[in-house]
Amino acid sequence: MSIRSHAELEKLRIIGRIVRLALDGAAAAVRPGITTGELDEIGARVLAQHGAQSAPPKVYGFPGALCISVNDEAIHGIPGSRALETGDLVKLDLVAEKNGYYADAAVTIQVGEVSETAAALVRCAESAFHQAVRTARAGNRVSDIGRAVEQETRRCGFHVIRDLCGHGVGRTIHEPPSVPNYHDPRSRTRLTEGLVITIEPIIAAGTGRGVLQPDRWTVRTADGSLAAHYEHTLVITKCAPILLTAA
Ligand code: CO
Repeated sequence: MSIRSHAELEKLRIIGRIVRLALDGAAAAVRPGITTGELDEIGARVLAQHGAQSAPPKVYGFPGALCISVNDEAIHGIPGSRALETGDLVKLDLVAEKNGYYADAAVTIQVGEVSETAAALVRCAESAFHQAVRTARAGNRVSDIGRAVEQETRRCGFHVIRDLCGHGVGRTIHEPPSVPNYHDPRSRTRLTEGLVITIEPIIAAGTGRGVLQPDRWTVRTADGSLAAHYEHTLVITKCAPILLTAA
């Protein structure tokens, strides 16, 4: 969507804050032994307390409030009985809705002490996000975001998972434009003032090829390498974007 009024911006800020609170609540509970299903319940409870609803179950029939993906699972992992172990990387991804407005964010949490590669991968997803944010302003191209994500990811020695993209958001989960995590020279689309998008580097320690699992939701790295994900919803302006899902 493209924001047309202060009232719309305010509604997006409200759902952005709720998404942050729910993700932070689940993230704070991460420890060895907790199950992904228990983390999902924590996030769902925060949403309910604030009158918000998880969007993927409503829109796509996803079986959980949060997408929770562990280690080589990159995105759309289904919460359940899996217990986290020291050294795991757990990705918490949440799109929620209140009063018809949607926000989307994701974070990668380290479970106890993790490997050096795992820690570097988490840092890289965040730094790729921040590099991309610097290019995200009205007049620049959507592909400038992907170029920044890809450059920073390569600089760290990792790869983006090319099949998984950021996107427009606001009145439903996935809206145009698609926001790839790589530079697409054919894409001429420009960022415009008020446009609401996600920037979400989804990167892997290995080749960056993803495969859909038999559960038909989870995308795992084809080579079994670790994946990390970092995401916010933001509003494009003439200057620095407004981060709706930041603390
Ligand atoms: Co997203």
